[in-house]
Amino acid sequence: MGVVIEGTGSYLPEIVLTNKDMEMIVDTSDEWITTRTGIKERRVAPKGMASSDLGKEAILDACKDAKISSEELDFILCATITPDKFFPSTACLIEHKLGLKGKVAFDISAACSGFLYGLEIARNLIETNTYKKGAVVAAECMSRITDYTDRSTCVLLGDGAGAAIVSSSEEEGIIGSFLASDGGYEELLHAPAGGSRLPSSFYTVENRLNFMKMEGQPLFKIAIITMCEAINKVLDKYGMKKEDISLVIPHQANLRIILGVAKNLKMPAEKFFINIEKYGNMSAACVPIALDHAHRKGLIKKGDYILTVSFGGGLTWASNLIKWTKGD
Ligand code: ACO
Repeated sequence: MGVVIEGTGSYLPEIVLTNKDMEMIVDTSDEWITTRTGIKERRVAPKGMASSDLGKEAILDACKDAKISSEELDFILCATITPDKFFPSTACLIEHKLGLKGKVAFDISAACSGFLYGLEIARNLIETNTYKKGAVVAAECMSRITDYTDRSTCVLLGDGAGAAIVSSSEEEGIIGSFLASDGGYEELLHAPAGGSRLPSSFYTVENRLNFMKMEGQPLFKIAIITMCEAINKVLDKYGMKKEDISLVIPHQANLRIILGVAKNLKMPAEKFFINIEKYGNMSAACVPIALDHAHRKGLIKKGDYILTVSFGGGLTWASNLIKWTKGD
């Protein structure tokens, strides 16, 4: 029995913040942002909209693509580091917003690698015959944890959600994954306050400790190394070669990171799907949105082998090897 991706979907809030807009907010320039990151604009959710709202829309879009009703879903797994609340889980809130109840619903906290972790969990839930069909969604409102006085992070981040419907099938689809983590790098990428270590207080708010903090330079190098490792490991594990892969769907943290991975692996840069210029880094939502856009642009044909690859807070890094089964 196989586990296939039956449909993909995405949702991006309408508000666009361009690099010119960022110039009005912090001491930066379109030229700096473009040359250092590849980003030209990003989306921001309006006040009152939260990750579950974005996630719900992405799942509905994916259900449409899969030609199913959301009632057919046995489970909802939501990857997010910007949940609506500590609890209930964003997955439960999405379930309710979809008018559903009684499903399996829980969140996955693996930062930018969350969707890839989710696909592997979903594969196992289905392959063990526990469930037949589910949605893996990644929904992020990064703008809510972005410090708009810190030019080194605020120009990078955006909001969005992406989803995939996964289901049991006679065909082979999600072949397998490589998942990894290292908590030793906690302070390179984190939100210091707001949890049980340093609960929110006047002090944490005054000192902007509830926002995301990042050490960009060391992360840049680690990102290239770990993403190359994730690709090599998943290919080795399933006896495949780089040449067998038609398209790589990478996390969109920095254009130079993606090109660095392609160069180190000696793979053509054209095999990497890139949409960072339009949306920036949306944490876990980058990969499923990129997958959905690549699918809708007709860049993935039935029978193609594709790879996802990501890297992010945790640190976590991961890759999924997928045979595409949609299309004629
Ligand atoms: N505009 C103008 N100048 C800036 C800006 C800005 N927005 N940000 C930083 N600078 C300045 C710095 O102050 C520094 O100035 P100085 O030389 O006078 O001190 C100079 O630009 C160079 O700064 P660097 O940090 O060395 O710039 P770098 O080329 O490393 O680019 C970046 C920074 C884009 C953050 C890069 O390091 C990067 O992409 N790192 C990896 C990010 C990543 O992968 N994060 C993980 C995922 S994020 C997540 O999980 C949500």
